[in-house]
Amino acid sequence: MTRIAIYPGSFDPITRGHEDLIERGFVFGDRIVVAVAASASKDPLFSLAERVELVKAAVGGDKRIEVQSFEGLLVDFAKKIGATTIIRGLRYVSDFEYEYQMALMNRKLADGIETVFLVPAFDLTYLSSSLVREVARYGGDVGNLVHPAVLAALKKKFSRK
Ligand code: PNS
Repeated sequence: MTRIAIYPGSFDPITRGHEDLIERGFVFGDRIVVAVAASASKDPLFSLAERVELVKAAVGGDKRIEVQSFEGLLVDFAKKIGATTIIRGLRYVSDFEYEYQMALMNRKLADGIETVFLVPAFDLTYLSSSLVREVARYGGDVGNLVHPAVLAALKKKFSRK
């Protein structure tokens, strides 16, 4: 039976840290659905369509990876696509409380879908989309931290402002 794991997030934008976790996620799924949340953050830099396109540009070449957007509850979407595992990354202690709460609530809502936490690559641990946005906004070099398509999109976004 094909195991489907779901990797949800805002991906505003996708970073090398996310890409690393998706690769690691194949321990838990034969297929990974990267689920881009429609209403994840109040004021995302990139639109939902842009975030989906950038995830596709970064990881879409792998046939085992599917990129989809979702609205509403993550567990409802996970059930709809037949996912049995939710993958989340844990970077620092400060991530833990929110992630733990979310995992418990998701299990309450959908018993049987298990959340697993993955540790990112050493060099990518201190990476986040918000830091990437911040550095790129002020013209800093994030070339090592994101896929070239994301770099180009960030440059375009901030050159217009
Ligand atoms: O990348 P993020 O912003 O940390 O991802 C958070 C996300 C999108 C995974 C989370 O907010 C989510 O699952 N949102 C969908 C709505 C939902 O199911 N909320 C209840 C979680 S207990």
